[in-house]
Amino acid sequence: MIGIIGGSGLYNIEGIKVLEEVKVETPFGEPSDSYIVAEYKDKKVIFLPRHGRGHKFPPHLINFRANIWGFRKLGVNRILSVSAVGGINPNFNPGDFVISDNFVDFTKSRIQTFYEGIYSKDSDTNYQDEVEEYLNTKRVVHIDVTEPFCPIMRESLIKACRENGSKFHEKGVYVATEGPRLETKAEIKMFSNMGFDIVGMTLVPEVVLARELKIHFGSISIVTNLAAGISENRLTSDEVVEMMHKKNEEIKQVILKFLDILPDNFNCQCEEVLKGAAI
Ligand code: HPA
Repeated sequence: MIGIIGGSGLYNIEGIKVLEEVKVETPFGEPSDSYIVAEYKDKKVIFLPRHGRGHKFPPHLINFRANIWGFRKLGVNRILSVSAVGGINPNFNPGDFVISDNFVDFTKSRIQTFYEGIYSKDSDTNYQDEVEEYLNTKRVVHIDVTEPFCPIMRESLIKACRENGSKFHEKGVYVATEGPRLETKAEIKMFSNMGFDIVGMTLVPEVVLARELKIHFGSISIVTNLAAGISENRLTSDEVVEMMHKKNEEIKQVILKFLDILPDNFNCQCEEVLKGAAI
């Protein structure tokens, strides 16, 4: 089953039938909002507004663990993340879509793991999967994130953007900042010198946590503005919201195409991520 994390209103798509709204409790606290369970053709799709409806939570206060755990509890094994970003690379312009292929983490205060325990082996229990086993036996887990995104989801997103005729970049390094403030000119200059393409505040730890649960994860970002100092003007949230509104229909079309293209069954490296990862 597929989960989509994005802005509120994203589930209001022609062709997608909303079935119910479910509140999910998790051992990690409350998710940003209730999950919206919907149907597209013969597929179940579950939406979650990342910041909660009405944009209640700033990026650094989003309960990312609860959000991702809630998806797992509902049976989601693939997550598509839709987010707004600033453009650092001069070729990445407002309105462009980006299918990131890697990230760099400059966040400061976020919990990035489900596995925080002290090792205490309990070898007699039959666990449903490694996630359950590692959590129950309080293992310390270091997942590989050499390639953080699901290759099949990336490929499907690229095809969806191409078929839709959208302007997009099939690769991009996303630098995650803590927020909620925007960046300084000097920070963006440093990020630019380091070769990063786009900047946003939410991809980390979203992708990391999903990966820890063996959930395939793909990301599509919309460049809403030129990053600080690249833009000649001061930055505003109005500009970000305006661009998201402007691109809303196009994003929805890309999502529908993506849902059509993504294979129902596939195996890839995401499922192997816990093999040999626990100490
Ligand atoms: N910086 C960080 N996050 C963002 C930006 C930005 O310029 N635009 C949209 N999200």
